[in-house]
Amino acid sequence: MAPALSTDTPGPFHTTGDPSATAVLDDGIRTAVRIDHVHKSYGRPGAERPVLEDITLDVRPGEFVCLLGASGCGKSTLLNLVAGLDRPSAGTIEVPGGRPALMFQEHALFPWLTAGRNIELALRLRGVPRAERREEAERLLELVRLGGSYGKRVHELSGGMRQRVALARALAQDSRVLLMDEPFAALDAITRDVLHHELTRIWSQTRLSVLFVTHNVREAVRLGERVVLLSSRPGRVVREWEVGIPQPRRIEDAAVADLSVEITEELRGEIRRHGRN
Ligand SMILES: Nc1ncnc2c1ncn2[C@@H]1O[C@H](COP(=O)(O)OP(=O)(O)OP(=O)(O)O)[C@@H](O)[C@H]1O
Ligand SMILES: [Mg+2]
Repeated sequence: MAPALSTDTPGPFHTTGDPSATAVLDDGIRTAVRIDHVHKSYGRPGAERPVLEDITLDVRPGEFVCLLGASGCGKSTLLNLVAGLDRPSAGTIEVPGGRPALMFQEHALFPWLTAGRNIELALRLRGVPRAERREEAERLLELVRLGGSYGKRVHELSGGMRQRVALARALAQDSRVLLMDEPFAALDAITRDVLHHELTRIWSQTRLSVLFVTHNVREAVRLGERVVLLSSRPGRVVREWEVGIPQPRRIEDAAVADLSVEITEELRGEIRRHGRN
């Protein structure tokens, strides 16, 4: 069962039922995701190992935030907490617009269903009437530039095409927040570049709030309006950058390269401070 389609996870997020709802912070700024002093530890009581420590981070409505950090620093843990798949040990997480959609590195499509049927399943779970599902699935496939692939089975699709279907299925949940956990990490550089372009286009069309996890600095700067760097063991927010480079960007743009060098230096420092990785 793909976690992205789970309907019964209790989840720590606060849901108002109003899909356009956002919380209003003390200073009047509205927020789509609010992570407030979150801690997460694993292990037996008395022998807990802290993975995340005092994470406070807001994602504004329509904002694209990239969460960057070394392998094992707790990025997926944090994303799973926001998705409601697990609970923080302390602190709170609010997603006022309701359950976020989640997309993983592995496509998690059902191999016995066609591309179109995979999307329709998400539509069904959302309560879209049967008569409307086919047309909506076709529209979503068009949106990810896979028009005409409705009847294709998963094994007939390339890695990039599978991730497009996975994106369409995430969009089918009609969430206001999209959580992405290294969704393009397994793709070759050219395919990844194309999907960066598509994701930026879809984000600017839909104005979704996106929280995108990656350990690839260039990818973070290529995509994000804001890049948030996590430290390792335990994960803490070390620093964040407002990117400020106009979209559409290209991964080879000089401005993207320059900021990537600066962030990489900081990331290297983090990895040195914490030994291995
Ligand atoms: N369910 C769990 N039980 C115990 N430890 C866990 C659990 N989930 C994650 N961890 C530990 O928490 C730490 C952070 O893991 P996490 O998967 O969040 O890292 P990550 O930043 O996503 O790494 P990567 O870039 O490799 O995907 C790791 O040391 C991992 O072993
Ligand atoms: Mg991870």
